[in-house]
Amino acid sequence: MTPLKWDEKYILNVKEIDDEHKNLFSLFNRLQDGMNTGKSRAELEHALSDLIDNTVLHFATEEKLMQQFSYIGFVEHKRVHDALIAEAKELQENFSQDRIELSEQVSVFLSGWLTDHILDMDKKYGPLFKK
Ligand code: FEO
Repeated sequence: MTPLKWDEKYILNVKEIDDEHKNLFSLFNRLQDGMNTGKSRAELEHALSDLIDNTVLHFATEEKLMQQFSYIGFVEHKRVHDALIAEAKELQENFSQDRIELSEQVSVFLSGWLTDHILDMDKKYGPLFKK
């Protein structure tokens, strides 16, 4: 799978959030590069863990801002965040227990998880946070 390319379509014009999204793209690409170049299991585990840990931190940033701005979609957005994290942690656990390999399918899930979520859900709060 090719690396994720940052594009202006992902920009929300909320600097803190845009910076965090860019960082997640970069962490995903590090993981993807590790998969493409046959890095060790320990290195891949480390890269996956960085991606998931930073995603958890990013979701917390967003949720704090949503509450601060009384965002009407907060409950639904948080529900989606929680489901994404649960799914990612299950994947992480399965990989660390040697039950799965990091495959193309995993990459597609993780990259779609990042890009679709930004375009579908994050874009909705952008205008409120910008004010
Ligand atoms: Fe940028 Fe809702 O995650």
